[in-house]
Amino acid sequence: MAKARTVLGIETSCDETAAAVVRLGADGARTILSNIVFSQIEAHAAFGGVVPEIAARAHVEKLDGVIRAALDEAGLTLDGIDAIAATAGPGLIGGLIVGLTEARAIAMARGLPLVPVNHLEGHALSPRLIADVAFPYLLLLVSGGHTQIVAVEGVGQYRRMASTIDDALGEAFDKTAKLLGLPYPGGPALEMAAKHGDPARFTLPRPLKGEKRPDFSFSGLKTAVRQAATAIAPLSERDVADVAASFQAAATEAVADRVARALAAFADIHPGLMAPTLVVAGGVAANERLRGALAKAAATAGFALVAPPAKLCADNGAMIAWAALERMRAGCLEDDPFGFEPRPRWPLDSVTAPLYGSGRKGAKA
Ligand code: KG4
Ligand code: ZN
Repeated sequence: MAKARTVLGIETSCDETAAAVVRLGADGARTILSNIVFSQIEAHAAFGGVVPEIAARAHVEKLDGVIRAALDEAGLTLDGIDAIAATAGPGLIGGLIVGLTEARAIAMARGLPLVPVNHLEGHALSPRLIADVAFPYLLLLVSGGHTQIVAVEGVGQYRRMASTIDDALGEAFDKTAKLLGLPYPGGPALEMAAKHGDPARFTLPRPLKGEKRPDFSFSGLKTAVRQAATAIAPLSERDVADVAASFQAAATEAVADRVARALAAFADIHPGLMAPTLVVAGGVAANERLRGALAKAAATAGFALVAPPAKLCADNGAMIAWAALERMRAGCLEDDPFGFEPRPRWPLDSVTAPLYGSGRKGAKA
């Protein structure tokens, strides 16, 4: 039997300073011993978006305390840790340097293995931390910096099936929210405003709906929303709610259509799969209307939908520790982890070159 392992995971690729301790038992049991996330939202709110230099400085200030809190909550000292994992990309270079350097320093000082982790792999494997999801499965990753559909075939085996050709979905939510004068971060605020709005008041495009390739596009929708809002300015509270609801309906309907295509393509690649599964991850996965639309698309295609809890969907250290544990168990480790340089761009798949765009647009890319 394999031995139990406990990993400290560090995440600093964007505007969350996060650390977590996760244990994989000898019997395969998974336990999140702690999962501390310090959100820098307040530091960036005045600017309406993530400012890379402010983010890097905030990581430097907060990371020690966040790691200490993660160890305290787990009831451990570094003596109880078997390896240190840190996000090494993709993301904002300043934050990546802070997290990876700190991880390297701790690992060197304690004589522990260091595991540099791809942030997207963290999202991709996160459902296996909380549920028994077997390979292969289809992943929809929707965050502020990424919008991709990936076939997760195994640890380190990813096939990108679709990407956005312009904005990320979270970015589209954030920009639309900004246009409507809603507070930062826009996604949750827009969802809240949309609750009281009429999703049918404005006729907005469902970009790429019906296209064969399951790619995404949101910039045309963003422009249509701007035109609709400008035409009725100044906006009353009711107008804001109606624009928000109409945007959310258009965006989720477009996503559900793209996902339905991808489900069909995935079923073609893996005919006869016993329990086909769609997993949704990334910050936008918290959106209830989106979850509803995905549940419907999955059910229609005969797929189960797994949506990890919001705290594991958004950026966190537990998914980084878990990706490291998966790699350790599978024996898929970097040859020279201490020489590994942070990578602002680091595509998940080496298999599929995107036809259009990289799916890594936006401030968080
Ligand atoms: O994964 P995440 O925490 O950070 C990265 O981008 O990596 O995702 C943050 C994004 C932001 O764009 C935020 O506005 C969006 O997720 N978001 C939402 C909701 N909650 C967060 N978008 C729509 N509805 C939500 N409830
Ligand atoms: Zn992320």
